[in-house]
Amino acid sequence: MARDRARMIATAFSPRHPLGNRHDYYYSRSKLGSDPLYPGVCDALRGSSAPLLDLGCGLGLLAHALRADGIDLPYRGVDNDCGKIARARGAAQQLSEVAFEHVDLAAPKFSLDSFDHRGSVAILDVLQFIPPDAQHRTLDAAIAMLTPGARLVIRTGLDDGGTRARVTRAVDVLSKLLGWMNAGPTRYPDAGALRARFDGAGLVSEFTPLYGKTPFNNWRVVASKPG
Ligand SMILES: C[S@@+](CC[C@H](N)C(=O)[O-])C[C@H]1O[C@@H](n2cnc3c(N)ncnc32)[C@H](O)[C@@H]1O
Repeated sequence: MARDRARMIATAFSPRHPLGNRHDYYYSRSKLGSDPLYPGVCDALRGSSAPLLDLGCGLGLLAHALRADGIDLPYRGVDNDCGKIARARGAAQQLSEVAFEHVDLAAPKFSLDSFDHRGSVAILDVLQFIPPDAQHRTLDAAIAMLTPGARLVIRTGLDDGGTRARVTRAVDVLSKLLGWMNAGPTRYPDAGALRARFDGAGLVSEFTPLYGKTPFNNWRVVASKPG
């Protein structure tokens, strides 16, 4: 993302008080400016007006990136980190049709069916942090939410045994140890299994590398229901 746009979005994460904590400002500015994730997801969602459910939304950077890109679809972000949800709400006050909620995708009794969401779903850098059974439940529920023309957009590391995959896991483990993430990685999806799941559901899917200049094995996976 262009540096000016990243800085403009990051301003929403500035503390109200001049001496307040500027962590989220610097984090969002550098993340938006360096990670091809957000432009890649905006490109995948462009042209669709279906409401978007963002699972594991973190600080809600995607909502800001979409609006800055002129993509006005209704946005709802959920995450199991109450602190992030509170800060996401604070930073999104100027954005219309944006909402955030605390949800634990891994909670055994939680079901995404309770959301009654129909439209597109984003799952960005989240799947590896939830246990395999919750990954399956989440993917099945997300697929069931897709309406014709809507898109399921996933970014994830893929388990292909390569060096990039090993670096991805090592950094995810380190992020947990340093307290940047509230969970460590469990299992990274396998490309063949994901593709088979989408084929079985009658979806059209596309896998594109989305690691830019980073050393990670991050891929953008877009699955859509033919209109
Ligand atoms: C690497 S961050 C990605 C944030 C956001 N999707 C983005 O790309 O900007 C992973 C997010 O997944 C969330 N997460 C991890 N486990 C979760 C769970 N069981 N339920 C909901 N969110 C979870 C974390 O709190 C964190 O915000």
